Amino acid sequence: MRLCVLISGSGSNLQALINAIQSNELAAEIVLVVSNRQAAYGLERAKQAGIPTLYFPYKKSQDRHQYDADLAEKIRTYQVDLVVLAGWMHILSPAFLDIFPHQVINLHPALPGTFLGTHAIERAYEAFHAGEITESGCMVHYAIPEVDMGSVIQQATVPIFPEDTLADFEARMHTTEHQTLVAAVQQLIEEQTKKAAR
Ligand code: GRF
Repeated sequence: MRLCVLISGSGSNLQALINAIQSNELAAEIVLVVSNRQAAYGLERAKQAGIPTLYFPYKKSQDRHQYDADLAEKIRTYQVDLVVLAGWMHILSPAFLDIFPHQVINLHPALPGTFLGTHAIERAYEAFHAGEITESGCMVHYAIPEVDMGSVIQQATVPIFPEDTLADFEARMHTTEHQTLVAAVQQLIEEQTKKAAR
């Protein structure tokens, strides 16, 4: 399975995919890593793994749909099977999503329908201390125009303990994300293999 991974930050989830591929856990190939932020350490991780990278910044003055369409066009030339949003901090419109129907998945550090949007980890931590939730989690879902919605592929709960600092909870969340993202891609590879076998 040919993957394109979109990042905006450290890329620890990208690293989890790279490690799973290198240990033959995932029958996939990351053919391109795109970041909209030049300082994203994930670009360095891609370079170290010998993966082609593309720095593709969105400039405030730009038309969002044009940016999304241009980005989709660039990715399309790599003939990818799956676009993975792993810490990608830019909402993609149908101008992008329609080019890759049912081929864009997103990792979100919260359970389905909860803490949509940014700072989900911090918001869950605060909700726990306000007595509103007893645990949180993460999920990988198909990306649709509605942010962090779309059918769920894999999800996992992440417990929060009273003595946790935010950093403790964040670390537990990221570890679970890495496992959940690899499991989601593995599931889609198995589905693709079954489809091809029919
Ligand atoms: C992850 O928590 C992801 O769910 C969120 O941003 C973080 C990205 O982490 N959108 P990394 O860049 O993969 O380390």
